[in-house]
Amino acid sequence: MKEIRRIAVLGSGLMGHGIAQVAAQVAKYEVSMRDIKQEFLDNGMRMIKNSLQRFQKKDIISETEMNQTLSRIHPTLDMKKAVADADLIIEAVPENVQIKKSVLAEADKLAKKDTLIASNTSSISITDLASATNRPEKFCGMHFFNPPQLMRLVEIIRGAKTLDETIATIADVSKKMGKETVIVKKDSAGFVVNRILIPALNEALNLVWEGIADRDDIDKAITLGLNWPMGPLKLLDYLGLDTTLSIAEVLQKEIDPKYSPCPLLRQMTRAGLLGRKTGKGFYDWEKK
Ligand code: 3HC
Repeated sequence: MKEIRRIAVLGSGLMGHGIAQVAAQVAKYEVSMRDIKQEFLDNGMRMIKNSLQRFQKKDIISETEMNQTLSRIHPTLDMKKAVADADLIIEAVPENVQIKKSVLAEADKLAKKDTLIASNTSSISITDLASATNRPEKFCGMHFFNPPQLMRLVEIIRGAKTLDETIATIADVSKKMGKETVIVKKDSAGFVVNRILIPALNEALNLVWEGIADRDDIDKAITLGLNWPMGPLKLLDYLGLDTTLSIAEVLQKEIDPKYSPCPLLRQMTRAGLLGRKTGKGFYDWEKK
């Protein structure tokens, strides 16, 4: 198994900042967090500080641990600086195959030959993403759940050429980050969780679109009837409607037309009603 000391997280958004935090806070790795705009990095660091303060207020971590965690996270706009010394690169840029492939190709060229690369994609083919690099055997999926600071699972996905050693190292890193893992043996769109979750969220959208029940009743039905921590429409806002649309489109294209996204999902995405990240979706998040 490869020894991992330094990690580069590409992307500082909803998932990237949380992954960088867990890597520095729980596994105590040195972490570079790279994004393309200073405001994205600033926002990522703000979310990390906010999350650490919540843990500190609850005495889960001390003030010293909070400051040590922050000192292990190195935000940067420079890809070379981010990946040059990394033993593992975790890609968490937007869920778009072109963007992911171009970022992965750039990171692959600048990283050491033996560096592992893992993608936090929610649904895109790992084999396809690996093809953007010259190291498909050192490449796999490492799928965290939102919020990565609290959700205990990591799905590890094997691409067509992934070596057993790569999977074993990623499983070890996940464990050091305090996560439970499951292995997805075949590279199939949506893996396990999103293959089940996204159709469920899409049906909640269909219920609204068809006028069968109102938002609050749909969310109430599922929180009380299935014991979900939040209803499906709130969860859609939490994850981002654009992200959910991208995943649904991949499931539709790669697996079966039956996964076709509800027109309401497309319409709200076009209108910028993306949920928490834009302040409005099914709920008004600006009020919170
Ligand atoms: N860091 C630290 N603590 C946090 C936090 C963060 N980022 N976010 C929330 N918390 C803490 C809060 O401080 C609070 O603590 P307290 O109960 O001691 O006061 C607690 O968590 C609950 O938070 P909120 O009061 O804000 O309650 P919410 O309901 O808004 O959020 C939740 C809590 C953990 C998000 C919970 O609602 C939940 O588990 N929701 C479901 C999340 C889920 O299903 N995620 C998986 C989605 S699928 C996915 O990610 C895959 C992708 O590919 C699409």
